[in-house]
Amino acid sequence: MNDLKKDTLKELGYLDMEIDPALDIFEEIKKLKKEKNAVVLAHYYQEPDIQDIADYIGDSLGLAQNAERTEADIIVFAGVHFMAETAKILNPNKKVLLPDLKAGCSLSDSCPPHLFKSFKDKHPEHLVISYINCSAGIKALSDIICTSSNAQLIVESLPKDQKIIFAPDKNLGGYINKKTGRDMLLWNGACMVHELFSFEKITRLKERHPEAKVIAHPECEESVLSLADFIGSTSQLLKYTEKNSSDVYIVATEAGILHQMQLNAPKKTFIAAPPDNACACNDCPHMKLNTLEKLYLCMKYELPEIIMDEELRIAAKKPIDRMLSLSKQLGLS
Ligand code: 13P
Ligand code: SF4
Repeated sequence: MNDLKKDTLKELGYLDMEIDPALDIFEEIKKLKKEKNAVVLAHYYQEPDIQDIADYIGDSLGLAQNAERTEADIIVFAGVHFMAETAKILNPNKKVLLPDLKAGCSLSDSCPPHLFKSFKDKHPEHLVISYINCSAGIKALSDIICTSSNAQLIVESLPKDQKIIFAPDKNLGGYINKKTGRDMLLWNGACMVHELFSFEKITRLKERHPEAKVIAHPECEESVLSLADFIGSTSQLLKYTEKNSSDVYIVATEAGILHQMQLNAPKKTFIAAPPDNACACNDCPHMKLNTLEKLYLCMKYELPEIIMDEELRIAAKKPIDRMLSLSKQLGLS
C-alpha cells in the first residue's frame, strides 16, 4: 500500500473503524452492490460469510474468467493480492478493490522478480510458464500463465521438446512433470499452507477412516499427494466430492473450501487434513485477512484500491491473455 493510500484510509478511520453491531452487514453489502454496480468475486478460501454474499465463488481460473467478463463498474475481490491484481490487469478502466491490501501470498512472495529475471536469463531457450499465484512483475517475465485447473493441459499443448521453466510452485510443477513426463525447470517456491500437511497425520487419519477418500491440492508436497485418491484445483476437488459416491473425505487444502463442499453435499462428512503446525489449523493467514466487515467498509469507501503502473500492466496482461485464450480452445471456460 502506498503512503498516500494509507493516509487516506487512516483519515477515513477505516483502519480501526468500529461498525455498529446492530447494522445488518449482509443487507448493507447487497445495497452497496446495487447502488454502485459492484460485483463481489470470492475465492473458496474466504470465510463462509464472504462466500455467502459473493456474486461468484470460484478457483483462480474461474475468478480470472469472471473478472474478464464482468460488466460491473467496481470489482470487489475477496481473495488475495495477486488475484485482485489479475482482475485489474484485465480491467484497467474498472475500479478493483481488495478488502485488505495486506492479503498477500507466500507462494507469490517466494519468487521476487529480480531474482527470477537472473534465473530466466541463464536459460534463454526456455519458455516460462508461471502459476497465476505470482506478482505482476513475474507475470511480465512469463510467456504463459496457468492455474491449477489448466496447468497440465497448457503444458501438454506445447511441443514435447519445448524447454520450459515453471514458476513459482515447485510442488505443482513437480506434479505436472510427473503427469506429463516433462522435465520442466522448477523455481523453488511453495505455499506455506499446503506445505504443512502432514504425511504421518493423514496416514493415521486414513487408518481411523478407512472408507474416506483423500483429496489433495497439487500445491501439497509429493509425499502428501502420494496418499491422495484424487488431486485437483479447488473447483475440481469440489466437483469430485459432489460426484463421487464416498460419504467421507479427508481434504488436503485450505479449510475454507469445506463450506462449499458441505453446502453441496450436506449428508457427506468432510475432514480437514491435519497440518504439522502449532495451531493445528489449515487456514491461509493471507486469505483470512479479509473479513465481512472489511468487505463492507471497502465497498462503502471504495478503498483500498488496486493501482498499477500501466507499462507493467500491459506486460503482465500478455501471458494472462494467452492463458485465457488457450483455456477457451481447450474447453475450459
Ligand atoms: P485454485 O483455487 O485455483 O485451485 O488455487 C488455490 C490457491 O492456493 C489459491 O491461492
Ligand atoms: Fe498463497 Fe497458499 Fe494462501 Fe493460496 S493458500 S493464497 S497459495 S499462501
